[in-house]
Amino acid sequence: MTNTEKNVQTTQICKNATDHAISGAYARGSILSGGGGCPSLNTPQAWYDMVNAYQQAALGTRLGIPIIYGIDAVHGNNNVAGATIFPQNIGMGATNHPALEQQVCAATALEMNATGIRWDFGPVVAVPQDIRWGRTYEGYSENTDLVSKIGAACVRGLQGSSLSADNTSAATAKHFIGDGGTAFGTSTASGPTGPYLLDQGVDQMDEATLLKLFLPPYQAAVTNGVRIVMTSYSSTTAGKVHGDKHLITDILKGQLVFTGFVISDWGGIDQVVPGSCSAPVAQSIHAGIDMVMVPTDYVRFITTMKSLVQAGTIKQDRIDDAVTRILGVKFEMGLFEKPMPAAGKESEVGSASDRAIARQAVAESAVLLKTSPNVLPIAASGKKVLLAGQGADDIGIQSGGWTITWQGSAGQITSGTTLQGALNAKLGDNLTYDRNAAFPAGTKADIGIVVVAERPYAEGVGDSSTLALPNEDVALLAKMRPLVNKLVVVVISGRPMVLGDVASADAVVEAWLPGTEATGLADVLLGDKPFLGTTP
Ligand code: GLC
Repeated sequence: MTNTEKNVQTTQICKNATDHAISGAYARGSILSGGGGCPSLNTPQAWYDMVNAYQQAALGTRLGIPIIYGIDAVHGNNNVAGATIFPQNIGMGATNHPALEQQVCAATALEMNATGIRWDFGPVVAVPQDIRWGRTYEGYSENTDLVSKIGAACVRGLQGSSLSADNTSAATAKHFIGDGGTAFGTSTASGPTGPYLLDQGVDQMDEATLLKLFLPPYQAAVTNGVRIVMTSYSSTTAGKVHGDKHLITDILKGQLVFTGFVISDWGGIDQVVPGSCSAPVAQSIHAGIDMVMVPTDYVRFITTMKSLVQAGTIKQDRIDDAVTRILGVKFEMGLFEKPMPAAGKESEVGSASDRAIARQAVAESAVLLKTSPNVLPIAASGKKVLLAGQGADDIGIQSGGWTITWQGSAGQITSGTTLQGALNAKLGDNLTYDRNAAFPAGTKADIGIVVVAERPYAEGVGDSSTLALPNEDVALLAKMRPLVNKLVVVVISGRPMVLGDVASADAVVEAWLPGTEATGLADVLLGDKPFLGTTP
């Protein structure tokens, strides 16, 4: 391999920053879709055709090394319209059911393969310590052991019996290390809505505490065959993790004997030495990062790499080690023998069987925080039920961030079943829904259900200093209360919230971010399935 061919293997480019023509010499190692990085037409076929075009271009080069295409399929193949959207990880932590998570991740890999993609930037194996963090819902639990157990199950689900088998996807344990341990107010990052509070901040604990809290899930993932790890934007007291040789090389690659490859986060290496061009590249590659998620200014990155290697600043054997690790994983995935999954599998995306798995996961994730006599389950016949709240009938709200777009959004953003739809199917005319609880004067009912919901967010955009539920939702309780005998509140949120007046309801259910199959929520509210979820 020439040095340029080697450098290309260490370069990951965002698909929005490239196209087959311009990137001819460069988009040959790895390409990603960032959150919402969809083809012009968001259909499974268009996804498959897009990935295939990049792959065929790579196979036409001198060495014909296949690309590896990566995506954040963190609760289903969630960028793809019509895909099954499973509960966000915090809900899967609440199920405390590893075998179910394994099924969820296997179904995710199946739906990814149908779109031509075989590398998942998941699972997140963070152990969120401060729930004001916007990525709390991407973590399974605040408990290290639970994260280890459920995270390993997802790795097994994604990767199947063999990484080269059909319908499998390479997993990525992320974000190494300490993404969920940052202190409030230590972030120097910002996003589309302004400064972050915790995300990408500083873990102020000593190394022993850091490793005790956050290393076991990586050990479990490595033991269960994970071959890719993504580094964390956050810092420890020693500095940015992306530039920390002790953590990446000594601990992950040495102590855990991790022989796969390490990929940086989106533009993460630039933060190692802000404002510099070559210093961050030198420091992060030297620290042990093997593939760089550049992801846009890839010509500058490759040019910088080339000059640093020529100058001897980056040692040739470090580059050779990185490329060996990357090609090793590509060989293990069978990409050389089978560069693309079978075509024509669009019907796998959002299949009834996958949605059934999601429905079961939703049912098992719901946590009954409070109840009283004669409230739950709601009898499916004879009882008059009122339902209110925007979140009761909104696929986007019930799915949360990382859904169709990076931040997610309220609205009918993809196909699925809302709580209103599911309850209506069972209760028929006994159910009356009004988003604003504006029911006709004199309305009386046995049961009132108010859904209070966080609106979608992702990453630091969701960092919160109040954990307050939207007033417009909480205000519905006072409107509903005089109309009904018993009041039930369903909370849709990415983390525990300050409940306030909500706690006065006769029953309170935490539904987390259930995804497209809210029928699972109706199943437990109507008593067709038991409440099994526990706060993780
Ligand atoms: C994001 C996230 C990371 C994701 C990557 C690619 O900024 O931190 O979890 O895998 O970029 O979308």
